[in-house]
Amino acid sequence: MGLRQQVLRRKPIVPPTATPGGLARKLTTFQLTMLGVGATVGTGIFFVMHEAVPLAGPAVLLSFLLAGVAAGLSALCYAEMASAVPVSGSTYSYAYATMGEIVAMGVAACLVLEYGVSTAAVASGWSGYLNLLLSDVIGWRLPPELSSAPAEGGILNLPAVVLVGLCALLLIRGTRESAVVNVVMVIIKLGVLVMFGAIAFTAFNADHFADFAPHGAAGVTAAAGTIFFTFIGLDAVSTAGDEVRDPQRALPRAILSALAVVVAVYLFVAVAALGTQPWQDFSDPAQQEAGLAVILQDVVGATWPGTVLAAGAVISIFSVTLVTLFGQTRILFTIGRDGLLPKAFARVNPRTHTPEFATVVVAIVVAALAGFVPLSNLWDLVSVGTLVAFIVVSIGVIVLRRTRPDLPRGFRVPLYPVVPILSVLTCLYVMSGLPPTTFLWFLVWLAVVLGFYLLWGRHHATLADPVAEAREEAGE
Ligand code: ALA
Repeated sequence: MGLRQQVLRRKPIVPPTATPGGLARKLTTFQLTMLGVGATVGTGIFFVMHEAVPLAGPAVLLSFLLAGVAAGLSALCYAEMASAVPVSGSTYSYAYATMGEIVAMGVAACLVLEYGVSTAAVASGWSGYLNLLLSDVIGWRLPPELSSAPAEGGILNLPAVVLVGLCALLLIRGTRESAVVNVVMVIIKLGVLVMFGAIAFTAFNADHFADFAPHGAAGVTAAAGTIFFTFIGLDAVSTAGDEVRDPQRALPRAILSALAVVVAVYLFVAVAALGTQPWQDFSDPAQQEAGLAVILQDVVGATWPGTVLAAGAVISIFSVTLVTLFGQTRILFTIGRDGLLPKAFARVNPRTHTPEFATVVVAIVVAALAGFVPLSNLWDLVSVGTLVAFIVVSIGVIVLRRTRPDLPRGFRVPLYPVVPILSVLTCLYVMSGLPPTTFLWFLVWLAVVLGFYLLWGRHHATLADPVAEAREEAGE
């Protein structure tokens, strides 16, 4: 087989019942929806108001809607692709089925940024909230040497390493067990946000909305760009295709339900927060540092709300870490099953039905990154990876409609092809705001992954070996 045929070969789409691999179909639509909410509602909502309100004023409500629509466009595309290609692996799998092996590996590079690197970055932020909570509750905090990376003056970010280790142990124990713990954590974090809203509403004053859009449409758009990242995470649902009951219907339902929950909760929090004080107060630097906590402290005139919100953030980061770590292991599992990574990544423990090897490798790499590397400047790289993945999935919808119009789809995007085209344009627009050096680093990382693929992966692909492929399709 020539190089051209190799890199452009596509993985056949097989019905979900024939999808092999040893993972068990145990997740319900509700648990899947909660995975989506768990990965999406992170620490963003606790702070984004103080970044976005100064840009848009009370019209930040429109910015939330705009950002929700932008995230919703790609969520709709994910919903259609997940229902047509209902396997684990998210965008990597969709690209392999629609655009060929080399594009799939390029997407895999993006997903390692979106899941692996972002998990490490999220986990490294845990120590700050944990210390806040510890000092509020027991008056003691971890010394700086043990709560920050060497380049930040510490020895090790111990809480980050512990958090990744705990999540890995839970994931190895079982997918259903992890999903149940995630549901509990999501209920707690939504509960904290609802509590915030309920208390804030007691100080509601409609006059604070009078000067509704002080910076006009430009302000609303700028704030929407800032808010966009708080909606990232819904696509984590699509990494779980092999572990879901009735995936063709459950996957799109879960993605769209998670979007609805997130939009509703964010709008509730935003209206409640805006009602408590004039929009100009959100620019106060002291407020910006403390986020929503300071609003609540002002309303009740005590410091306990800060403690409750810190506890909410601790739980919030735990569930984001759990779900994104899960996503990364399932993506590598799928790539290993396709032979583009060593097959060990696709090995599943027959008792727990979890990919132990992939989980341990991902946990060690992510824990090392989170513990020893200062990651706060890697967020732009995570955004590029995420946005490229969103673009590929939107193009994938159009490609698959043309190449496989016959394929059964549990969900179809409305207003086709307007939705996928708008989704691509929105992602390009958001991307255009990122610094040029980010793209340079992104290209370097892409070259490394594609180099590995050209030297090793393409020779070991399951598709290169018809016997292995037939065995895989037969579920052996
Ligand atoms: N959506 C995630 C957050 O808001 C990234 O923290």
